[in-house]
Amino acid sequence: MLNLVIFGAPGSGKGTQSAKLIDEYSLYHISTGEVLREEIASGSELGKLADSYISKGQLIPDDLMISILDEILTRHLKDREGIVFDGFPRTIPQAEALASLLEKHGTELHAVIGLEVPEEELIDRMIKRGQQTGRADDNAETIKNRLAVYHNQTRPVKDFYIGKDKYIAVNGSGVVDEIFADIRKGIEQATGQKSKK
Ligand code: AP5
Ligand code: MG
Repeated sequence: MLNLVIFGAPGSGKGTQSAKLIDEYSLYHISTGEVLREEIASGSELGKLADSYISKGQLIPDDLMISILDEILTRHLKDREGIVFDGFPRTIPQAEALASLLEKHGTELHAVIGLEVPEEELIDRMIKRGQQTGRADDNAETIKNRLAVYHNQTRPVKDFYIGKDKYIAVNGSGVVDEIFADIRKGIEQATGQKSKK
């Protein structure tokens, strides 16, 4: 199996590079942000609760997020070649929970790919996407909060994985395919896994 976390600030390219990873390595993509946006679109009770946090740029509480992830993993981990976790973990308790959940399913996390992009570029990308797609949390005020939450609550997760020797830093600025080539090199160096293609 190949289980990867794609890590980085809001707008760093996690979704963009996940699409390439799942194709290249035949992995299953779990984006917690997308899962929550689907709940919001469906009008479910969970969606209403999620919206009250996402619209402010805050994180959904750990207990709730971890139980949602547990349920998704139980449904989708079997018979897969591996998973790309996009947007999870975002806190130290989530990182600890991910290790336990993967262990419960008889597997482990192999590497964390950290996309590193300067803050001005992150803001430009999200403002542009907000104008093009209307994604609700891509407005100046919420972007400011999302970046502050990243620095205060999510950035420590990077040090957590550096300490476990699982963090692969990748320059996330530039051409999408060139960034992906660096990701592939990093995965091969860290895990010995070559792509399935
Ligand atoms: P989530 O959906 O995870 O959003 P995010 O982390 O804010 O990141 P984005 O999806 O905005 O960016 P991305 O890194 O995927 O980049 P993308 O490829 O789209 O989370 C949303 C919210 O849900 C959170 O704020 C929180 O409230 C909640 N949530 C989610 N997970 C949670 C958790 N685990 N715990 C608690 N709460 C949680 O790229 C961005 C843009 O840039 C795109 O337009 C793209 O086309 C463009 N782009 C990508 N790469 C490049 C490039 N190389 N050059 C130029 N443009 C590029
Ligand atoms: Mg995303």
